[in-house]
Amino acid sequence: MDTRASTTAESVSENGVGPSVQRLAAKLRQKQARIGVVGLGYVGLPLAVEFADRGFQTVGFDVDSECVERLNDGDNWNEDLDDDTVRRVVEAGTLSANTSFEQAGDVDVFFVCVPTPLTEHKDPDTSYIESATESIAEHLRPGQLVVLKSTTYPGTTEEVMRPILDEAAEEQDMECGRDYFLAFSPERIDPGNDEYTTANTPIVVGGVTDTGTQVAELAMKQIVEQVHTVDSPKVAEMEKLLENIFRSVNIALVNELAQLCDRMGGVSMWDVIDAAATKPFGFMPFYPGPGLGGHCIPVDPHYLSWLARRHDFETSFITLSAQVNEQMPFYVADAVVEAIAEQPTRLQDAKVLVLGVAFKKNVDDTRHSPARTVTRLLREKGIEQIRFADPHVEKLSVDTKKGDSIEVPRVEVTEDVLEDHDVAVLLTDHDDFPYETISNHATAIIDARNGFEDAADENNVWLLGGGENGTESWESRQVKS
Ligand SMILES: NC(=O)c1ccc[n+]([C@@H]2O[C@H](COP(=O)([O-])OP(=O)(O)OC[C@H]3O[C@@H](n4cnc5c(N)ncnc54)[C@H](O)[C@@H]3O)[C@@H](O)[C@H]2O)c1
Repeated sequence: MDTRASTTAESVSENGVGPSVQRLAAKLRQKQARIGVVGLGYVGLPLAVEFADRGFQTVGFDVDSECVERLNDGDNWNEDLDDDTVRRVVEAGTLSANTSFEQAGDVDVFFVCVPTPLTEHKDPDTSYIESATESIAEHLRPGQLVVLKSTTYPGTTEEVMRPILDEAAEEQDMECGRDYFLAFSPERIDPGNDEYTTANTPIVVGGVTDTGTQVAELAMKQIVEQVHTVDSPKVAEMEKLLENIFRSVNIALVNELAQLCDRMGGVSMWDVIDAAATKPFGFMPFYPGPGLGGHCIPVDPHYLSWLARRHDFETSFITLSAQVNEQMPFYVADAVVEAIAEQPTRLQDAKVLVLGVAFKKNVDDTRHSPARTVTRLLREKGIEQIRFADPHVEKLSVDTKKGDSIEVPRVEVTEDVLEDHDVAVLLTDHDDFPYETISNHATAIIDARNGFEDAADENNVWLLGGGENGTESWESRQVKS
């Protein structure tokens, strides 16, 4: 049977493709559809809260019992979400959470938001997607839609998820696209971004069949203003990777040129980017930094490299950008050592203050943060007295060469703390840092983010990509002592 039908999200119920889709479409329009979000992390929790806040009965499923208990207590842990909104939807009974999938049979639309990490050999680890899909498959019934949100390689929805769901479907004489529906819709959430939220960020949807695309489009339209449909999940999966690879490649480009500026001297890459950004077309600014972080950009491109290798194809841009970006924490750690070398302090006695350990400004996420690598490298160079300050992060543990991990002590940024350290290294330019106080009281500053651009006294600041060779520039400066 041909399950492909040309519909639009608005006309799903009028086209006669089957009773299941018509019932589901009607439930979505009347806000009677029950939403199930699998994985209540950075992606899943905001999605669940958004649906619940729009009046949809929503249940979150997570294997982590602590986060389930916290949510059921109305206790929000996501900095981008409003505490009152979370408490309100939980108290109203619109949002609840569960470790067990017992209620999964009641759900009409599942969103799968589980991790997609790499194995130790940097191959895709789709085990979380598989286990979440198996849990859904146990409760599969006619009229359900499953939408994968996790970032992954092209083919995952059709080749990893669909066989698991189809096996369960066949037992009930169900068919994908007729009785149950499957789609991929990549997540575009940008933690810490107040301007672009779930509602005003356009989203892409690609279903396993046309009907799957249309019903997934209809589901997404309940919370997102603009939904762009594509012909298949593969196009949507590849589109998400293009977004991430685009960032990785462009960041690598400016990171390489920043190092060139430092080597040449006399040209600041930051001034160059500001000047280029005056062009109103054909240029988009990206900025140098201490390396990539977060759950997406350091990880996702490897998903495509792995797939490419299966097709005897080498994705050189991905490899090259990873090489340049992975080198940046080493570059910053060397700059810290050079700043110590200018002072009457031995490395063993030096004290380093790491400013900012989240992977980007104004968020609390330290996953794959370059601060972890910089701290590890400094320890390997013999610097043991390292502390960190971060208004968004309470704890930081860093792997050691021996394979165990150590807790890095946390301090507040005070005049005394700044004066007590030989070098302060800015790795995350949180808005909440007191830049003026830091520049006035730190002995020497390595600025990997251009956070001290407006500081009154920059004489103790070395800026990554600022066009000043580290050693020479410290000779011509005075560190505060
Ligand atoms: N964090 C972001 O900003 C972002 C942005 C776009 C896309 N993504 C992608 O979204 C996906 C999720 O990322 P995240 O940052 O939300 O991850 P996360 O680690 O914050 O959350 C994942 C949650 O899934 C739960 N989980 C794991 N296996 C499960 C299972 N079988 N059943 C139920 N729950 C399970 C975990 O306990 C965890 O709470 C990843 O593929 C990521 O690449 C993330």
